[in-house]
Amino acid sequence: MKILITAGPTREPIDPVRFLSNRSSGRMGYALARAFVKQEHQVLLISGPTSLDVPDHVDYLPVESAQDMHDAVAHALPRVDIAIFCAAVADYTPVEVAPQKIKKSDDTITLTLKKTTDILGSARSVHGFTGFLVGFAAETEHLEAHARAKLIAKHCDMIIANDVSQSGIGFDSHDNEVLIVEAEENTKLPRDSKEHLAHHLATIILQRHASKRGTE
Ligand code: C5P
Repeated sequence: MKILITAGPTREPIDPVRFLSNRSSGRMGYALARAFVKQEHQVLLISGPTSLDVPDHVDYLPVESAQDMHDAVAHALPRVDIAIFCAAVADYTPVEVAPQKIKKSDDTITLTLKKTTDILGSARSVHGFTGFLVGFAAETEHLEAHARAKLIAKHCDMIIANDVSQSGIGFDSHDNEVLIVEAEENTKLPRDSKEHLAHHLATIILQRHASKRGTE
């Protein structure tokens, strides 16, 4: 099976030395990449900048901005069976990138931002992806309802949701606790290391993909 995984944060440039980013460590996506490799699948890991070691035996494509990640994903999607969007993609990016380092002058400055392309949201509707599509949702409230809304809006087969208001799980931590939201059911996986969770998730994703294929 060929599996695309996006991971890590994106960096949205402001000027040659500054960017907007977020606290995503990339750990969940990298753990998933290792889990699928261990089960002898072929993984393409498209990753924003992280401090992690590149997992062995994956095809690794480093990217920086949301636009870079979008372009890399759009190029790869026709060749994969399963696409898992784990990256914490910036929702907004500066309208203009200053060609030179912005100098300190006024007391306040204004940065105008525009929406980035929703990579996951465009996988089916723009790029015509027909494989098994998995998104992630980091929420601080109404976990199931928000995840289910995303499942429908982004035409996903599965949303893996985590509550980022709880300390010690999710963003920038080693553990996670997730709720798997699918059209017909929800499955809660209790708190565990991202490494262990990744193995459970990989197994469940492969099972669901096989049964979807079987019913087509
Ligand atoms: O809508 P929200 O950003 O919460 O959705 C999260 C999911 O969408 C994640 O799977 C994330 O990787 C993906 N996403 C994306 N492109 C964006 C924003 C989010 O692929 N621009």
